[in-house]
Amino acid sequence: MSFPRRDFLAGTAAFAAGVTAALVGTKRADAGDASFMNNVPDPLLSDKELPTFKFALEKSKGRVSGQNYAKEATVNQLPISKGIAGVTMGLAPGAMRELHWHATAAEWAFVNEGRVRTTVTGPAGFEETNDFEPGDVWYFPRGHAHVLECLGDQPCHFILMFDNGYFSEFGTFSITDWIGHTSKALLAKNFGLPESTFEGFPEKEVYFAQGALPPAKRATPLQGVKAPSETHKYRLLANPPHVNNKGGRLWLVDSTKFPISKTFTGAILELDPGAMRELHWHPTADEWHYVLKGTVSVTMFGSGGRYRTETLEKGDVGYIPQGYGHSIENVGDGHCRVLIGFNSGVYQDIDLSEWSASNPPDVLATNFGKPASLFEKFPRKDVFITG
Ligand SMILES: [Fe+2]
Ligand SMILES: [Fe+2]
Repeated sequence: MSFPRRDFLAGTAAFAAGVTAALVGTKRADAGDASFMNNVPDPLLSDKELPTFKFALEKSKGRVSGQNYAKEATVNQLPISKGIAGVTMGLAPGAMRELHWHATAAEWAFVNEGRVRTTVTGPAGFEETNDFEPGDVWYFPRGHAHVLECLGDQPCHFILMFDNGYFSEFGTFSITDWIGHTSKALLAKNFGLPESTFEGFPEKEVYFAQGALPPAKRATPLQGVKAPSETHKYRLLANPPHVNNKGGRLWLVDSTKFPISKTFTGAILELDPGAMRELHWHPTADEWHYVLKGTVSVTMFGSGGRYRTETLEKGDVGYIPQGYGHSIENVGDGHCRVLIGFNSGVYQDIDLSEWSASNPPDVLATNFGKPASLFEKFPRKDVFITG
């Protein structure tokens, strides 16, 4: 599929990753570095059979506090998903996912229901507050601090994706956890305030904080406004789809349109009943699925005769490792919608129809032992989605 590409930059990054791999051996692979994991044989993918690539995320237990919840899919729940972790999170009106950071993974999110306000703080105190509606996405670079607030009087639901399958939403660095374990004397010195200021602060991580509904328009930060050069918000579904075929549509955003999203690409795939995203692979990224609506059949080809099919229903997660062949077919009665994430800031794919169309009939004839005339009937351009 032809999307704007920055092949030179992608190539440079791949070369750099290779050099890093050669320098550090397998140590960083154990630590879960996604870019490096992709360059070494994965024991999990070396067996005669392919492992499962499905996890029923919404049916899992997760962490529930009143109407607020967070459920995660990491390598613990879905061992194949070493490159990408994901979380489904719901917040009640007046609730927030407290101020926190995580330097082990960047965060990409899709708002599914309700409205969300985020405030993110980067180095040098640059901050941005954005309000999100269904169909909008955010991206926070690794280590940048943030807070998520439910806006308005309706609950909200969003899906988070992280560019590291070892990342756990329950191992983040939260502000209450930190302050609750620091002495009052140290805090007093830090802020230039009396120790009594910190009486009654939470002594352990709050995680979900509950309070008044946030103001309709955000209040000014203590330091005043200090806007960053790149925005953290992109209106994915408010933009036209990248692909609009008979049978389905794909909305996709990578760093060519959303520059801050340097390590992640996100997409919404919508298929009519019976339609299919054709057989293809991604040269540079792992792929993570979350089914927002409907039922899909996902196939995966893993070389050496290995082939596996999983049926994913609403709330289920799927995962395809970098370079593995796959397809997504709507096998339900109605439209389906799948949220798809890739751990690369520049989207790339090669489709089977595009591959065959890029070869002359005589090559295909010899390869398959069939007459060249047969291949004259094959598509002459990329199919991508077929109805
Ligand atoms: Fe986060
Ligand atoms: Fe794909």
